[in-house]
Amino acid sequence: MRVAEVNQEDLKPFIAGLPKAELHMHIEGSLEPEMMFALAERNGVDLSFKSVEETRAAYNFGCLQEFLDLFFQGMAVLCSEQDFYDLTWAYFKRAHADNVRHAEKFFDPQGHTCRGIDFETVLRGIQQARADAERELGITSELIMCFWRHLSEEDACKTLELAKPFREGIVGIGLDAAEQDNPPRKFASVYKQAREQGYRLLAHAGEEGPASYVEEAIDLLKVDRIDHGNATLDDPELTRRIAGEGTVLTVCPLSNVKLAVVDEMHRHPLKTMLEHGLAVTVNSDDPAYFGGYVNDNYVAVQQALGLTVDELHRIARNSFNGAFLDEYAKAAHLDELDAYVATYR
Ligand code: HPA
Ligand code: ZN
Repeated sequence: MRVAEVNQEDLKPFIAGLPKAELHMHIEGSLEPEMMFALAERNGVDLSFKSVEETRAAYNFGCLQEFLDLFFQGMAVLCSEQDFYDLTWAYFKRAHADNVRHAEKFFDPQGHTCRGIDFETVLRGIQQARADAERELGITSELIMCFWRHLSEEDACKTLELAKPFREGIVGIGLDAAEQDNPPRKFASVYKQAREQGYRLLAHAGEEGPASYVEEAIDLLKVDRIDHGNATLDDPELTRRIAGEGTVLTVCPLSNVKLAVVDEMHRHPLKTMLEHGLAVTVNSDDPAYFGGYVNDNYVAVQQALGLTVDELHRIARNSFNGAFLDEYAKAAHLDELDAYVATYR
């Protein structure tokens, strides 16, 4: 869409005050370079970059794998319970400033256990920050454990086993890291086990991978939501089907541009997805690496695609409807949201 055609109304203040849920962010992806250097010093970890500025300057990615290489290096500074607490608390403070009312966060246990960090250390730090955020900031949250899809299904099964003592504090499982050549079907058996244990199910699909991976995630893994899902539009039949079924897609606009999934923001498929009736949400993915938190993502797509107040309202409604909240909490958030939009008008 050309700039002249888009809605030029300044909706930044509207977005700033919009109550919303964030459903797709990786807690390790909110590690800002400043904290990375502070934790490296605290823990005596060597970093390959000399400064915060040099680190930020390296955040130019040609594809998902180039990002993952730096993301894996960055998380190596996270060692103690306090580190995980500090990281998670910093995210909540930032999310609070963006009027996030509820946040569902991924973490990558294999990225920590493979370095000799106990599952319990990671969990205790994150859970303490979640409790403090609910009490002090009024933000509710859920935690989702992701499996790295370039590793084996056996490794994912071992991680599911490690999580057993912490089952109550983890709402669901997800699938992330290198999508290409690692189809959802590779993890069908671990997803079946997780389903039997009562976990909610998610998977990154259709980010760099094809629409058939989205379909596999739904039909074989039986996911409750799709993370990203951009490739869905390549398959009109699938698009009609999941629009009809109301499957929520957690779209991450700045991530998509940074990882070259979309070449320019004004060609982002989000508006087309809305026009096809897909239940899309807007999220930050890895805000420290992709140049912005959730409101920056809303503003970027709003400005590039000329999204209207109605469309932003729909996106925020989808974020609460797609969250793992009980019906009472959902209704309360939706009432607050609808009242906000009505007042704005
Ligand atoms: N895609 C896949 N894996 C990830 C991502 C992503 O956008 N962010 C962190 N791990
Ligand atoms: Zn992601």
